[in-house]
Amino acid sequence: MAERYVLSIDQGTTSTRCILFDHRGRLVSVAQREHQQHFPRPGWVEHDALEIWRNVQRIVPEAMAGAGADGGQIAAIGIANQRETTVLWDRRTGAPVGHAIVWQDTRTDALVEELRERPGEEFFLDRCCLPPSTYFSAPRLRWLFDRTEGLEQRARDGEVLFGTMESWLVWNLTGGTGGGLHITDPTNASRTMLINIRTLTWDPELMDFFGVPRAMLPEIRSSAESYGEARALLPGVRITAALGDQQAALFGQTCFSPGEAKCTYGTGSFLVMNTGTDVVRSRHGLLTTVAYKIANEPTVYALEGPMAVSGSLVQWFRDRLGLISTAPEIETLARTVEDNGGCYIVPAFSGLFAPHWRSDARGVIVGLTSYITKGHLARAVLEATGWQTREVVDAMNADSGLDLKELKVDGGMTSDNLLMQFLADVLDVPVVRPLVAETVSLGAAYAAGLAAGYWPDLEVLRGNWHRAAQWLPDMDPERRAREYECWQRAVERSLGWVR
Ligand code: G3P
Repeated sequence: MAERYVLSIDQGTTSTRCILFDHRGRLVSVAQREHQQHFPRPGWVEHDALEIWRNVQRIVPEAMAGAGADGGQIAAIGIANQRETTVLWDRRTGAPVGHAIVWQDTRTDALVEELRERPGEEFFLDRCCLPPSTYFSAPRLRWLFDRTEGLEQRARDGEVLFGTMESWLVWNLTGGTGGGLHITDPTNASRTMLINIRTLTWDPELMDFFGVPRAMLPEIRSSAESYGEARALLPGVRITAALGDQQAALFGQTCFSPGEAKCTYGTGSFLVMNTGTDVVRSRHGLLTTVAYKIANEPTVYALEGPMAVSGSLVQWFRDRLGLISTAPEIETLARTVEDNGGCYIVPAFSGLFAPHWRSDARGVIVGLTSYITKGHLARAVLEATGWQTREVVDAMNADSGLDLKELKVDGGMTSDNLLMQFLADVLDVPVVRPLVAETVSLGAAYAAGLAAGYWPDLEVLRGNWHRAAQWLPDMDPERRAREYECWQRAVERSLGWVR
């Protein structure tokens, strides 16, 4: 009998990837397409949702061809996606209403500052467990309603639908205007500022506050259950999972027990720790989020420290400054010098996320002297990711009362050995990377495969996890403390830049 696979679609910030996995969780084939980043004004970041859907239509057959597989060999489809990015579309025509507004976009910063004053942080923390931030979806909806004539009414009449990328893709995959499903899952819904994190339902007070009508919101289903057939692309094959990409990575790293954590280094970096079935409210600037909800099982929660800018800082260094021509060259350039030469870059391009939550911050480069070369800048770019992780780990340790013993990492930037060593050095714990570094895709596949009976249980998935690389701490404690202090002083300088 022909081998069967699980097909995973990872709709990320810069590209969309389709990967086929086999029973042992091994990557069998991959296809990927980048989409355009639109920066119409400073701080604005947009995507064309139609371009993304077209990319999916291309990469799914490409990945299938790569494995020599036909539809009959696909046991299930799982989706992971960039979270918070806000897509609106017309229910009747299926056409997006304008560009999608991306999670990095800061256009709602004035509105968010108002929210901090009225009704105040507690109002939100009590319900959705999120602090007001430009990061989340609901402020974007309010922003759009306030600026687009007739949009709010069309949303009330159910003519315009809202979704994050998984909703948009499920809608299109299951038939679009010809009968598409309008659904989301709790991991994605928990990033809108519109659900009650305990009940996992749309919260009437939050909807009222933002003026978001129920008619435009998707139905919240489990993260792993059979949603419907992907009849637009793979008739007969069912979509059985959808998770936000960072929760998918937690699942792919098999962090199924409370206290287990991972950090994914992609466009941004996201440290997520499983906290079990308890909603743990952070006192140190982390988010409380849904880790996953398998159908008929209790909800599993997590604490998360999102850092908005990591890989995207390398991209900026490459595309906007032109100091390297490919992303991996950053390591080669950084190795031309011994250290950062006293230079620090705080990449607060979208304000600062965890643990600061300051939308009024903007990026700074400090410590410049005529001694500084592009090699030092390259080091400062990589080190920014290390120090941001250190701040989040400190917050995680303080919230959980435990000291992180080891950090499981994944994502594109983990191929940078200099960065991984620096991480181990500044965290003072071993950093480990699994054999399959594509944990976002793997997690979506695992959830989908579980729901479809392709894998029997979580234990089998755990058995698939194998360590591929490890970096051990090797930094003099005094130097670590001194440099951390410099980083913290640099962060202070980035705060309050937007008035
Ligand atoms: O919250 C944003 C996050 O989901 C984006 O992840 O990997 O697409 O940058 P990534």
